[in-house]
Amino acid sequence: MRQVHIALGALALLASACGGSAISPQMVQRAQAHDSSASEATLTQGKALYEQKCGTCHELYPPSSHSAEKWPGIVERMGPMAKISKDEERAVLHYVIGAGGE
Ligand code: HEC
Repeated sequence: MRQVHIALGALALLASACGGSAISPQMVQRAQAHDSSASEATLTQGKALYEQKCGTCHELYPPSSHSAEKWPGIVERMGPMAKISKDEERAVLHYVIGAGGE
């Protein structure tokens, strides 16, 4: 157990040393519970898209503002408005669910 903790600590240090994507393993796990294709890469992409595309008409909604059950319908409705592709919608969804908690 102790070794695992040390390894995780080293990983976290490494991630922050590289500038960090602000995507934690917990966020990836949460997103994966809803869609097994979620990964750190899709959450990172989703975060960037979310910040670039989803705050132009209204303030960015915090990921925690809607539940993991609500987000898919919202992103499906907002994706075309933000002119993003289906793949990009999926990445945005991974991010908001991962970052949003339950
Ligand atoms: C072209 C303008 C536009 C863009 C771009 C846009 N939205 Fe919206 N959004 C709206 C409007 C208008 C509403 C209010 C009407 C509605 O809910 O359909 C809204 C409402 C919302 C709501 C509240 C919905 C609810 O039911 O409480 C959320 C959350 C949201 N948008 C998320 C997003 C996300 C995520 C993106 C990026 C994929 C995005 N929006 C991009 C115009 C936009």
